[in-house]
Amino acid sequence: MAGAYDAAYAESLGDPTRFWARAAGAVEWMRRPRAVFDGSSPPLVRWFPGGMLNTCANALDLHVATGRGEQAALAYESPVTGTSRTLTYRELLDEVAAFAGALAGLGVERGDRVLIYMPMVPEAVVGMLACARLGAVHSVVFGGFASNELAQRIQHAAPRVVLSASCGIEPGRIVAYQPLLEHALEQVSAKPEHCVVFQRPELRAELRAGRDHDWEALVAGASPASAVPVQAPEPLYILYTSGTTGAPKGVVRDNGGHCVALKWSMGNVYGADAGDVFWAASDIGWVVGHSYIVYAPLFQGCTTVLYEGKPVGTPDASAYWRIAAERGVNVLFTAPTALRAIKREDPEGKLAREFDLSRLRALFLAGERADPDTVAWAERALGVPVIDHWWQTETGWPVASNCIGLESLPVKHGSPTKPVPGYDVRILDDAGASLPAGETGHVVIKQPLPPGCLKTLWNNDAGFAEKYLSRFPGFYETSDAGHIDEDGYLWIMSRTDDIINVAGHRLSTGAMEEVLAGHPDVAECAVIGVRDALKGQAPLGLVVLNAGAERDAGELEAELVARVREHIGPVAAFKRAAVVVRLPKTRSGKILRGTLRRMADGEPWSTPPTIDDRTILDELKVVLAELGLPATD
Ligand code: COA
Ligand code: AMP
Repeated sequence: MAGAYDAAYAESLGDPTRFWARAAGAVEWMRRPRAVFDGSSPPLVRWFPGGMLNTCANALDLHVATGRGEQAALAYESPVTGTSRTLTYRELLDEVAAFAGALAGLGVERGDRVLIYMPMVPEAVVGMLACARLGAVHSVVFGGFASNELAQRIQHAAPRVVLSASCGIEPGRIVAYQPLLEHALEQVSAKPEHCVVFQRPELRAELRAGRDHDWEALVAGASPASAVPVQAPEPLYILYTSGTTGAPKGVVRDNGGHCVALKWSMGNVYGADAGDVFWAASDIGWVVGHSYIVYAPLFQGCTTVLYEGKPVGTPDASAYWRIAAERGVNVLFTAPTALRAIKREDPEGKLAREFDLSRLRALFLAGERADPDTVAWAERALGVPVIDHWWQTETGWPVASNCIGLESLPVKHGSPTKPVPGYDVRILDDAGASLPAGETGHVVIKQPLPPGCLKTLWNNDAGFAEKYLSRFPGFYETSDAGHIDEDGYLWIMSRTDDIINVAGHRLSTGAMEEVLAGHPDVAECAVIGVRDALKGQAPLGLVVLNAGAERDAGELEAELVARVREHIGPVAAFKRAAVVVRLPKTRSGKILRGTLRRMADGEPWSTPPTIDDRTILDELKVVLAELGLPATD
């Protein structure tokens, strides 16, 4: 007899209508969908057409109405401010309804965009849910991005209102948000009508009369708004993510498919039920934060933990275990880099044993490849299953995982286990032919993608089709490379494009190259991701100077580092740049980034046939060796 996973997977691909209709039964509809799926206007698809619902009502009102009003909905833990706060479902609903009323008072209506540039405070979650309540489309921008990145997103999304806070708190420094926002607003032509600023006691912001509103004062004068019915395919949010160039891509998520898929994933992938405590130690600026800090745990009636702190240093490497014990966390989710940071300070994994983690059932990892050493360390330290699972901003929820809510499959370290029901994952060669088990190729997903995945790119349907659907007709291109083994396990090895993953943060080397190329002394450049023991990868810039430019290497590096920090933000973690005489290129002029990366990582490499002059690579070996990188061949 097929196990529960095999049965669910087979049904999800064999009879997706039945499978997703059943999942949709768990959602509170204001009008039931007339169909599960509409694929009549390819490449765009619509899930649950005819259905009307409200995402916020599914996250909050539903639970208050069904007796969970006094249960904790949001557990806020902020070691950086010494604050701990709990909001019940009823309290969170009251705050969200009041803030939605305030936004409505500013003219925000269904379909309007609201940009959220806020740190990890409960008000940020309130802002997101308030938008959903009104049928407005939020776009959250991660606090570690600089003004220029913020400006690009404001310009593209054209929000009617921006929600911000006076400051964020990073270990050792207070990040003043208002000057960053002000500088971004100076650069855009699509100016928002209003900014609502949440004042934090650590640093108060100067408000500009006429445009800026104090969050609390605005709410005090507002009357609560009720949940607005929206069509299932209408957009819930835009989340910008790194692409190959400097222009980020606005991933659009719908309301209906998102609600159905995320609610299904909570029980079946994560094994989390109503009443459980779920902690995704990420940031609301990333997809993990959208899906598994805010929406999915609330759809499921869980308590979600909102953590404003780091895995180490706030105050120490026991922070995760202390909070997990105090809050009775049942399921924890973080990035491997966070575990590596803890492991570095506690190699024996002793700290976790000082806390009562008896309620913890599983630890999930995503955001980057989970190296087997780190997984094994966490298994020893915690004594619970450690589950690597793979997904992307675009998919919004896991593509491959050990779906412990269905059935726990044997673990293979280094593999995120098997495709999640709904995802038909294949491995193709460059020409689009299927590869046999064990052979590495392009990881693709057969269309249509299941509900909850990206609907399109904001204001760019053509770009959506071109970027994701054109290379392998009939398939969505993940831009990850990997293989499926004989047991059907998926192995994700690397990206096939210029995206790198630094401390679980997705960054574009192309965007960094654009910034370096703007330096007056730089003629051309390449940015590659080199292996980093803590962050997985770290960017390295290699620059060729303009003829006649004579620069002190240290001084130039400092200028380039400052430039990337200013243009992209501290999160780029761009710390190293070196001058080279030439960059290796193919005969058609393409920089051989793959060879450069393999050289820097000390992986085997050979002189590509497309390169005429091998001495360039010898020169590079010297530069890389000076940087302490192996560059063997
Ligand atoms: N606002 C402003 N600045 C921010 C920021 C934010 N929200 N988040 C990070 N930064 C800054 C950091 O302060 C740091 O600045 P610095 O160069 O002045 O030190 C820089 O961006 C790089 O940050 P990061 O790469 O996170 O490195 P770190 O040294 O501060 O911390 C880790 C290292 C491993 C502890 C940290 O990266 C971490 O917790 N990673 C987990 C990531 C994660 O959960 N990702 C979600 C995917 S699931
Ligand atoms: P993001 O869109 O920021 O979630 O980044 C998505 C990318 O991160 C994926 O395309 C992968 O390259 C990488 N990634 C995420 N999770 C994993 C994982 N579990 N294993 C390997 N790579 C991962």
